[in-house]
Formats: sequence, structure tokens, C-alpha cells
Amino acid sequence: MSSTEQPQPTSTGTRPRVLVLFGGRSGEHAISCATAGAVLRAVDRERYDVLPIGITPSGRWVRVADDPDRWSITDGRLPEVEDVPEQVLLPQEAGSREMQVLEPGSPATTLGDVDVVLPLLHGPFGEDGTLQGMLELADVRYVGAGVLASAVGMDKHFMKIALAGAGLPIGPFVTLRGDDLDRDRDGVRARIEALGLPLFVKPARAGSSIGITRITDLADLPAAVAEAQRHDPKVVVEAGIVGREIECAVLGGRAGAPARASLPGEIVVTDATHGFYDFEAKYLDEAAVELTCPADLPDDVIARVQDVAVRTFDAVDCEGLARVDVFVTPDGEVVVNEINTMPGFTPFSMYPRMWAQSGLAYPDLLDELLRLALERPTGLR
Ligand SMILES: Nc1ncnc2c1ncn2[C@@H]1O[C@H](COP(=O)(O)OP(=O)(O)O)[C@@H](O)[C@H]1O
Ligand SMILES: [Mg+2]
Repeated sequence: MSSTEQPQPTSTGTRPRVLVLFGGRSGEHAISCATAGAVLRAVDRERYDVLPIGITPSGRWVRVADDPDRWSITDGRLPEVEDVPEQVLLPQEAGSREMQVLEPGSPATTLGDVDVVLPLLHGPFGEDGTLQGMLELADVRYVGAGVLASAVGMDKHFMKIALAGAGLPIGPFVTLRGDDLDRDRDGVRARIEALGLPLFVKPARAGSSIGITRITDLADLPAAVAEAQRHDPKVVVEAGIVGREIECAVLGGRAGAPARASLPGEIVVTDATHGFYDFEAKYLDEAAVELTCPADLPDDVIARVQDVAVRTFDAVDCEGLARVDVFVTPDGEVVVNEINTMPGFTPFSMYPRMWAQSGLAYPDLLDELLRLALERPTGLR
């Protein structure tokens, strides 16, 4: 799928300069660093000039080592971007592509121009549209979803509204804000009861299964809502869907062509003590889960999953990449669970694995994402 022609040279006629941005303020700091390690190792240095920039856990942007080994998880040591007394600055006006660095007591010095940012950040302040807004303001190109798609993808309530509006299949749900449940505002209790059991109670804007509880008794609802509200005042209560957990990787189309869907993969939680694909099963108890790729599904179901995945991508005006997670019910019906606009991106993550199974190896996938970002205009599009 990748072509052999060189990516468009920059205005200065050199290789495009890629700012690989990682670390950050979310709980997934170390995972982000590990992803950056893999990306720094795989990116084609003959095609791209690479500038790695780390974001410390407190949010400071700093220059970091261009060294894949420094950022890998070795012997259980979790990599972290160290705080140093400097501050990397994005271009300060639209039309400029010059990055700068500020060190205490000195005037700003140049880091040269940047052509495209590759944000390898998950969760709040990375995947939720905030960083994308900052890059839009600076008029800098970047890989992946824009402001709106990122924000909608992060908010399970608005995600469902957008998908339902586009006629996509989603499960029944009720959204709670603040003390809606205590006051029974809008008759929420009856509406939740009508969803049946089990229920999944989730913070509207989190991820990694954080704050999610599966309940099988309505008496447990207040505690589950309180747990979700530790992470977000807005909570989504969903009817449990019986079905296989299937994921599909979507890649934007080049030059206005339609988005592309990979072969689907499947998540099987083999250790029943987890009950669902919870935080421990995702990150701590690898033996509890099997990631199968490609998923063993009939051709017609694969085609339906791919169609739903691309339509979900389009329904939120997504760009670049996204992983669309669905349930496939016993009678072959596809129900969308969620879209992830910055899916896990280590070579072992489902998104790259699904593309590898579909004929696009990790370095080529990276190249394709950079090309898509370089060809897309800044500003409204
Ligand atoms: N409505 C549902 N029915 C059945 N299982 C669900 C439902 N919602 C979530 N789950 C289970 O919980 C997991 C995490 O939920 P998800 O909405 O994907 O949250 P996150 O954004 O944190 O990944 C899913 O992968 C699935 O195993
Ligand atoms: Mg999920």
C-alpha cells in the first residue's frame, strides 16, 4: 500500500521534519514513552528528520534523547521524561514553523522548523482535542484526529449522540450529570431500570477502563455511579451487550479517497475473574487476555464490521487513524462500543497488529500516517 515515491519535500527542499511528541500528564505517561521508543526505532530516517520532544508528568515540553532504548520498558523499569529547566515552544505565529527553546536567563534559541507533529499521547491532554487545539492555533500539521473528532471520541455521551445521528448501531444508554440520580431528574431511575441487567457504569471521559463497574444488581448503582464520578462528573450507564469484542483499525484515505479498514481482531478475556476487559486485564494481567488477529469471523460479518468501522470514523469527522471497537452479537449483529482516536501504538498493540495482518507493516503504517498528515491542509478543512 505504501508507495516508493518520497514524501513531499518541505519548502526548504529538505526531508520533512517530524516532531515526535510523547510522555505527558496522563496516567499513560510510561506507555507513551514506550510507544515513542518503538516509533523512533521504526521511522525511516532517510525520509524524515526526527525531533523527539518529551512532555514531563507536570506538563513541561523538553528536548529528549533520540534513543529508542532510553524509552523502552526494560526489566520492569518504566521510562519517564525527566524535568529539566527548559521549555520548548511551538511556533509563535501562524505562518511560522520555527520551534524554539527557552532556558532560564537566556533569550529563546531556535530548534529549526517543524513540518508535522506526531502526538503519541493517550487520554486527557493528548487524545481529547486540547493538544490538537494548541496545534491548530500554532498552524502546525499533526497526525490524527482534529479538535472535534478528538473531543467527541473522548466523550462517550457525545460519541453515542453522533453515532446514533449517523444511523450507526449503538446500545441503549442513559447519561447522568451531577446529582441526577439522587434527585431522579428526568426519571433517570426508571430509565436505567428499563436498560435491564447487567449494566456498565462509566465515566464519560476516561479510558483504559478506569472507573468502570459492571453491576448485576440495581442496589449497586449508587456506588458504581460514585466510583465513576471520582473520574468525571458526567457518567454513562449502558445496557450490557452480549457479544464478542471485535476491533477494527481505520486509516484515513489519501487525497480525499475513502478511509480504509483493516482485518478485524478479537479480544477474549480468558480469565473469568475479570468479568470484562478491565484495567487489570488490559495492563497488569497479560495472561488473562488473548488478542487474536485476524479474528475468526465469517466473511459477511468481517465486511459488516469494516463498513461500520469506516462509517463510525466518518461520523465524527475523524482523520488519520482510529480504532473502532464493536460487539458482534451471537446472531451476527454489529454494535459499536467506542472509537479511539489515539489507539495503543506499540508494535504489540492491536492497531498496528491489525494493519500488519492486513499487509501494512509497522514502519509503512508510520510512513502512511505521516504522509496523510503532511498532505492535509491546516485550518478549516
Ligand atoms: N455495554 C457493554 N456491554 C458489555 N461489555 C461492555 C460494555 N461496555 C463496556 N464493556 C466492557 O468494558 C470494557 C471497557 O469499556 P470501554 O467502554 O471500552 O471503556 P474504555 O474507553 O475505558 O476502554 C470493554 O472493553 C468491554 O469489555
Ligand atoms: Mg475500550
